[in-house]
Amino acid sequence: MEQKKTFYITTPIYYPSDKLHIGHTYCTVAADTMARYKRLRGYDVMFLTGTDEHGQKIEDKAKEAGVTPKEFVDRIVTGKRGVLDLWKLMNISNDRFIRTTDDYHAAAVQKIFKKMYEKGDIYKGEYVGKYCKPCESFWTESQLVDGKCPDCGREVQDAREEAYFFRLSKYADRVQHLLEDTDFLEPRSRVNEMVNNFIKPGLEDLCVSRTSFTWGIPVDFDPGHVVYVWVDALFNYTTALGLFNDRYDDYEKYWPADVHFVGKEIVRFHSIIWPAMLMSMEMPLPKKVFGHGWLLLDGGKMSKSKGNVVDPYILAERFGVDALRFFLLRTFPFGSDGNFSNEALINTINVDLANDLGNLLSRTVSMVGKYFDGTLPKERQADALDEELSSMVSSLRDRYEEQMEHFAFQNALGEVFKVISRANKYIDETMPWVLAKDMEANGARLATVMYHLLETLRVSGILLTPFIPTSAAELLRQIGACENCSTWESAGVFGSLPADVTVTRGENLFPRIDLKKELAELETAIQTSQAKKTEAKEEPKAESPASSEITIDDFCKVELRVGEVISSAFVEKSNKLLRNVVKIGEEERVIFSGIRKWYSPEEMVGKRVIVAYNLKPRKMMGEMSYGMILAADDGQGNLSLLTTDKTDFPSGSTVG
Ligand code: ME8
Ligand code: MG
Repeated sequence: MEQKKTFYITTPIYYPSDKLHIGHTYCTVAADTMARYKRLRGYDVMFLTGTDEHGQKIEDKAKEAGVTPKEFVDRIVTGKRGVLDLWKLMNISNDRFIRTTDDYHAAAVQKIFKKMYEKGDIYKGEYVGKYCKPCESFWTESQLVDGKCPDCGREVQDAREEAYFFRLSKYADRVQHLLEDTDFLEPRSRVNEMVNNFIKPGLEDLCVSRTSFTWGIPVDFDPGHVVYVWVDALFNYTTALGLFNDRYDDYEKYWPADVHFVGKEIVRFHSIIWPAMLMSMEMPLPKKVFGHGWLLLDGGKMSKSKGNVVDPYILAERFGVDALRFFLLRTFPFGSDGNFSNEALINTINVDLANDLGNLLSRTVSMVGKYFDGTLPKERQADALDEELSSMVSSLRDRYEEQMEHFAFQNALGEVFKVISRANKYIDETMPWVLAKDMEANGARLATVMYHLLETLRVSGILLTPFIPTSAAELLRQIGACENCSTWESAGVFGSLPADVTVTRGENLFPRIDLKKELAELETAIQTSQAKKTEAKEEPKAESPASSEITIDDFCKVELRVGEVISSAFVEKSNKLLRNVVKIGEEERVIFSGIRKWYSPEEMVGKRVIVAYNLKPRKMMGEMSYGMILAADDGQGNLSLLTTDKTDFPSGSTVG
């Protein structure tokens, strides 16, 4: 049997110094889309992400919080709404997750450090220079800009200590050649920046150990020194595959990486220091580093330390994960900076998703329902009008592929949406409602028109799958696409759906959003969440340490009651929420619940549910919600409501 081609893609590993924001989400969504695209094409994909948990910055923050560094990072990585939760929310399909505090990684980094030392590429000296704590970067005097860190513009501090150095200078020529004469670093514009700003002025040897703090991987042959956090961090891409450890065994299979996605401010580490260290280790170099742009807010980089972050949870809850994923890759060219705004987000959802794609789907499926009872007849009657659309559809996959192979997500989506627009125009041209007036004469023609629309949707749905996995799957389900006509292969062929395909009406994938109203509500939601965060921060420290146990008194603070759902309805602008009226004893309450994906309003009515009764009411979708309906979550994206074992148990009963 022919072996599958492999594809290894990584994101940077994130500093768990604070909650992640939409800027971090950007790169991970892009990498996820790429990984899904390669899987769709049949590759054996390894998609790695993780967290970079050592360094002085984290040690300091933990101290501030009154916890150990490990407790501190655990809370941000595995805690509620932490890094792992965020990737789950965003439907990130990483195959592996590395934490640099994992034992296997630390032990492997010690071996790596020692190997470079024994080779003579790491030597002991004294470090005199400047250090930028937030960036974990050492600088020489000449690299500073106006005496400040050239990356972030913040104050730097004097640093002088005994340290180990890596002979970066030794590899300067080879790295310059790699950058200038190969496609190693993209976009191309970043090459000049690296060569002119860093290599040409002369690459100095790099300080790779510290003695002034302890939160790092110890140099095993010289206790007191910890390995510089970037050496520790960069090798994650290889230890996560099993280099120098027994935890994994995929190094031979996946290394070298096909591409590292990284933000532009860390291109220097990935395109100069990283290849130089790999050269020293005599390991193959990654095939490509892609330096993407930043999401800006009011013209400046969103960043944890600036505090102007946009919370992906709020956005995903209000607009849906797919809409958010789509927006990030549709709106900004991946290699350049882009200005984030709520208005741009809502407009993209309205124009592309609600208007163009959503309408095409709902119009088509409802017409097939109305004119043919959901199943097309096999008779066809062609017309010259069909050709432009069918040829656009059959060549779409190749144009999309060309863009995807260059990480041009925006252009790949552009190709798909050109065809979707063309199909909407085709409806106006062919006027199905006129044809439908005389089914006897025009039935075959009308079926042909419908088939063309369904095929456009099918191919678009397949190609959109990596970007909006859940919605694309629902689209394909509604148009009756079987497994064989949902493959990459079938996306290259017009006419894969059976001639007598049956469609199924479903929910509106992307409801239109009222821009003004939503902007106002969003503002309130953001303020509420900020208020909550401030409240949380003001809690006394002694109570917060990472124990998850609570006392019986704590538990009894939550009043749980049995309620009976007496009515339930979809919420117009939300694809998550149901609006339920729940009878609890004599009382009736409105409770919103994010269970629309798992329960229809009809199923809800009559159910006994368990309600968190004394929860502070909160505003959702412009209306107050009084309490919460409890559901179990299997961690795989499935929810199941809690109910009483005896189905007629009286509403209003207490639970505990
Ligand atoms: O740099 N727009 O971690 P990090 C786009 N631990 N991307 C952004 C962004 C924004 N506003 N803000 C952050 C580190 N990012 C190291 C990496 S890899 C061996 C070690 C991106 O948490 C940023 O560009 O500071 C970077 O690529 C990633 O988030 C992680 O940033
Ligand atoms: Mg950073």
